[in-house]
Order: sequence, then structure tokens, then C-alpha cells
Amino acid sequence: MNIGIDKIGFHTPHLYVDMNKLAVARDVEPEKFTIGIGQEKMALAPKTQDAVTLAANAAQLILDENDKEKIDLVIFGTESGIDHSKSAAVYIHRLLGINPYARSIELKQACYGATAGIQMAKGHIALNPESKVLVLGADIARYGLNTSGESTQGAGAVALVISKNPKLLVLEEESAYLTDDIMDFWRPVYSDTAFVDGKFSNEQYISFFNKVWEKYKEKTNLALKDFSAICFHLPYTKMGLKALRTILEEGTEEEQTRLKKHYQTSTLYNRIVGNIYTGSLYLSLLSLLEQNDDLKAGSRIGLYSYGSGAVGEFFSGNLQPDYKEYLYTDEHLEMFDRRKEVSVEEYEAIFIDTLPSDGSDVVLNHTDDPAAIYLAGIEDNKRIYRSGK
Ligand code: CAA
Repeated sequence: MNIGIDKIGFHTPHLYVDMNKLAVARDVEPEKFTIGIGQEKMALAPKTQDAVTLAANAAQLILDENDKEKIDLVIFGTESGIDHSKSAAVYIHRLLGINPYARSIELKQACYGATAGIQMAKGHIALNPESKVLVLGADIARYGLNTSGESTQGAGAVALVISKNPKLLVLEEESAYLTDDIMDFWRPVYSDTAFVDGKFSNEQYISFFNKVWEKYKEKTNLALKDFSAICFHLPYTKMGLKALRTILEEGTEEEQTRLKKHYQTSTLYNRIVGNIYTGSLYLSLLSLLEQNDDLKAGSRIGLYSYGSGAVGEFFSGNLQPDYKEYLYTDEHLEMFDRRKEVSVEEYEAIFIDTLPSDGSDVVLNHTDDPAAIYLAGIEDNKRIYRSGK
């Protein structure tokens, strides 16, 4: 049975910071951020957007009544969870009006969560071919003001419908994955910003990539020539390029040119959003699908997922006929166009103005937030989500 990605939706908050201006404020050369890191804009979440609302907005764009009826599993991958007990997926389930006879759970393994969700969804569809699974990946990447990770922050969510006979990408059966207990990036429960060993995390990202790539080739007998494009988890867009470069020599000059060209296309959206952790690989895939002008049905796309701590996986899929017709390209581009730039001073003020963590109530002003689904406040230790303006 063919199982894979039937729909992809994306949402990012309406605010962003220009990386050139952030560089000036931090007294570094702008090229360090725009070329060395490879980021142009960094999405910034207002107080009225959290992982739940970002994901709900991404999913609302793509789900029709048939999807809502057939979805019987909602899997939410996030490392920006809002509750140690209740899963973020349960809020989404209500906000989107999904069939009540569904399972709704949250998964965590850093930026690997959504990939874990997709692989579980594949198994679920194999056993229940008529059902559909909604997989969400939503995060707000926070390292802190004036930290070395600051230029790799961002915010956003992807929503994917996994089903049989998918309209976008059929996932192939084989996959190579690896776990190793390392401390390259982590966020203890008492902290709202991540801890990171930056250089070590870069090394491990590449080392995991090389290991799962070798394992994948061994399992499948495929080689670099069999791939039209490879998409990467993109904490920043230079990172995937560094990993890709380590295997390029396995291909001819023509294959190298093709992979480098498609790599650039696969980073266009990530360059103007920043790191969205669990959703990042799928934002890269979305960028490739919506912005390429030559990938045909049957093209094989490789996917490298990396979640610090760490788990890595390399898997692949084949593009489906007329996939371009089933994308939400115009809506995504309009969302980018509607965004508003904030100054570095405004960004800093928004960054430190966090929700109360002492249990007090708060009512949030949402008039400036154009998102359809937003956080209206906290009452009696309960987050109040609203849909519709
Ligand atoms: N013009 C062009 N390039 C310049 C430049 C200039 N004027 N000045 C510096 N650069 C280049 C540097 O040469 C360097 O390039 P290479 O990496 O190719 O050598 C690049 O800009 C970055 O410079 P530094 O290494 O000096 O940057 P840094 O030490 O300040 O921080 C970082 C970089 C380690 C990525 C840091 O931003 C960080 O810790 N980020 C968070 C962690 C992260 O994203 N890790 C990625 C792997 S882990 C993962 O993938 C999971 C996840 O999502 C977190």
C-alpha cells in the first residue's frame, strides 16, 4: 500500500526581525548572519501565539470536513510544550473539530518529534487503511538575547496529513535511524531558553547524518545518483549545506549541481523564518515542493531528520503526479507578505515580556495578531484559546 504525505500546511507568526539589523545591534558583520549562518529574517512569536496556536493555524488551512471525519490519530511533536501532563494535541483536536473517536498525543525528542510522528502514522495507516493521521510539528526556538544561538531562533508550525494514496509524497519503506545519549542541546524543565554546546551540536548533526546515510545505502542499495533532492532539518540554512557537502563527491558533477540547486530551493522558506525545531525539515520540504520548477512525478526526495540529544533518521519519498496542484503556495506566500518587521528594540521587549509563570491570571490583547487562532489569556491556570476574530 502507498502511504505518505497527503497535505502540508505551514504557519508562522506575523512578526519578524531583519538579520542585518540584528547583526548591527550585536556588533557583528551582517554577512556572518546572512552568509555564515544563512538567515535573512527571524520569525518572532507574540504572546498570543504558542506551540498550540501555531499548529492549529497551520492545520486549519489544510483540513477539510472529510479529513476531520477520517483523522483518528493526532500526533503533536514539540519541544515547546505548554503542560507536563495534558498533550498539546488534545487542544488542537477541539480547536479544529476533529472526529471525537480519535487518539491525541504529544511526542518529544527535540527536533525529531514530527518525524517520529510520521513514522508512527505510517504504521497506523498500514493497519487502518481508511483512516488519516494529523501530524503536527510546532515550536518557538529561544536561546536568549545576546547569546551565540540568538541568530538561530525562529517560530512556526507545520501540519501534515498522512494517508494512503497520498497526493504529495509516497514514503518509501526503508529508513535508517540512530540514537546516542549526548548533550549537544537541551532544555531543562525550569528553563524557557535552550542550553547548547554549539560547535559540538554542529559536529554531531553531521556525524549522525553520515552514519544514517551509510546505513540507508546499505539497507536499500541506493546511491546519491538516485536522489533528485535531499532536504535537511535546518537549524540554520548553512547547517544542511555543510552536511550535504560531506557526501557530494559520491556523485558526478551533474548530480552535484542538481543536488546543490535543489538544496538552495529547499532553504528559501527557512531563510526567512529561522529554526522551527520539529517542523524545520518539513518547512524545507515545503519550500522545495512549492518553489522548484523542474521536479517531476517519481522524483525521489531524501529527508534527513535530526533531534539533539540525539536521534537522527534518513528516509525518502517519491513525488506524486500533479503534486503542485495540492499545495497551498499562494496562501503561504500571502502569509509571508503580510508579515511586519519589528526593530531590534521591539524584538527585545517582546522577547522578555513572557507569560506569568507563578499561576496568576492574564488577559492578552490580541487585536494586533492577525492569526485566526490565538491565546486569549490564562485563567485559573488554564490557557484560553480562541478561534475567529
Ligand atoms: N562573512 C561570512 N561568513 C562569516 C563571517 C563573515 N563576515 N563571519 C563569520 N562567518 C562564518 C564563520 O566562518 C562560520 O562559518 P562555518 O561554520 O562555515 O565555519 C559561521 O559564520 C558561523 O560563525 P561561528 O561558528 O563563529 O558562529 P558562532 O560560534 O557565533 O555560532 C552556532 C554558530 C554554533 C551555530 C550558534 O548559532 C548556535 O549555537 N546555534 C544553536 C545550535 C544549533 O543550531 N546547532 C545546529 C546543530 S543542532 C540541531 O540541528 C538541533 C537544533 O535544531 C538546535
